[in-house]
Amino acid sequence: CIDIAKLPKETGCFTYDPGFGATASCKSAITYIDGDAGVLLYRGYPIEQLAEKSSFLEVAYLLMHGELPTKEQFSSFEHEVTHHTMMHEAFRTFLYGFRHDAHPMAMLTGMLGSLASFYHNDLDLEDPEQRRLAAIRLIAKIPTIAAACYRYSIGWPIRYPKNNLEYTTRFLHMMKEVPSEPLELSPMAAKAMDLLFILHADHEQNASTSTVRLVGSTGANPYVSVAAGVAALWGPAHGGANEAVLKMLEEIGRPENVGSAIAKAKDKESGFRLMGFGHRVYKNFDPRAKIIREMTHKVLGELGINDPLLEVAMKLEEAALKDEYFVQRKLYPNVDFYSGIIYKALGIPTEMFTVMFAIARTAGWVSHWLEQQTDPEARIGRPRQIYTGSPVRDYVGFDQR
Ligand code: ACO
Repeated sequence: CIDIAKLPKETGCFTYDPGFGATASCKSAITYIDGDAGVLLYRGYPIEQLAEKSSFLEVAYLLMHGELPTKEQFSSFEHEVTHHTMMHEAFRTFLYGFRHDAHPMAMLTGMLGSLASFYHNDLDLEDPEQRRLAAIRLIAKIPTIAAACYRYSIGWPIRYPKNNLEYTTRFLHMMKEVPSEPLELSPMAAKAMDLLFILHADHEQNASTSTVRLVGSTGANPYVSVAAGVAALWGPAHGGANEAVLKMLEEIGRPENVGSAIAKAKDKESGFRLMGFGHRVYKNFDPRAKIIREMTHKVLGELGINDPLLEVAMKLEEAALKDEYFVQRKLYPNVDFYSGIIYKALGIPTEMFTVMFAIARTAGWVSHWLEQQTDPEARIGRPRQIYTGSPVRDYVGFDQR
């Protein structure tokens, strides 16, 4: 029998920080954000400069290695990524087990986890070369897996990676339903796709990256750590917002309906939020949203697309930025607000939007995982809690309940 009086009454002293709004979980040299000033740097380089001058694969190298590559370093990195694009043929067995109409994010989560079963046994996490190779494999294979998931979901046969194409174009070639040969992608469309990947490549300790680090902190392998990151990304409060934005814009339908959408978003009882608005860290304009908005106009203009959803989006942004509710709470459009309109213009189906985000974010996830592996201060992630349950009590049998 336990003497309740002798049990400690206090749980000790913890920081109670739901949602980790003011808690740094690690030290990192990868990405810097100043949310008040709207600044985003990858390894010290402003996102605006990388968006204008770099390419996604170069940014992936930068995130992983800390420095921009020389020409030789870049071509060797590109060569390696290109030569790890194939999936093991047995992968099809996993893929064909999914329901035919499964969401591509559900399949992607499972498929990435299953990569561990192919590469786990020969993975020595103590060996830096093997860790690097695992990171390369993830960056190289995720577009192939993502495209296969999509093609399976529409009943089309899988396409193999065409290694004479560059990273983003290769992915489009594998995914598209009826790809032209060679793939007809205007330089502007190719740039837009690459730009979106650059902007989504990393964003310090967001929910999915923190998930990758938390799983990684247990010593789990990088494939399952990244699969966990994909799962975290899928939620509509995080990467799933890009799909949710497009659905919301379609529901709003016309600029005249913007007023009622704003009113609904302000009404807490409605349970509706303006998707693509607000950010935990940015209390000023999300710098990525500024770049994407400009690109949206360029892409639609060049492709001669007159998408009424763009008008709805612009009206929504204009109305929200003037509204006291959004101004007071510093709610600005985030990276996902306009990205879906570009993806739509490029012919990417809505259910693939978050998958696109996952492909790009893999560069960030593996960089954080690599950094964590050599961090002398890294420990297993183990948050505490404030217990709010019943005090200790004695078990009673069914007859006494
Ligand atoms: N629409 C309406 N009201 C909002 C919105 C929104 N999009 N976002 C926040 N608010 C309100 C909240 O209701 C809250 O109001 P209150 O102070 O009266 O209670 C206040 O603004 C603060 O919101 P929190 O939820 O506390 O902010 P938090 O930092 O926890 O959440 C988040 C950030 C999840 C991004 C939130 O703004 C949101 O849900 N946005 C919509 C989803 C979205 O676009 N997610 C993508 C984020 S970017 C990314 O992950 C890539």
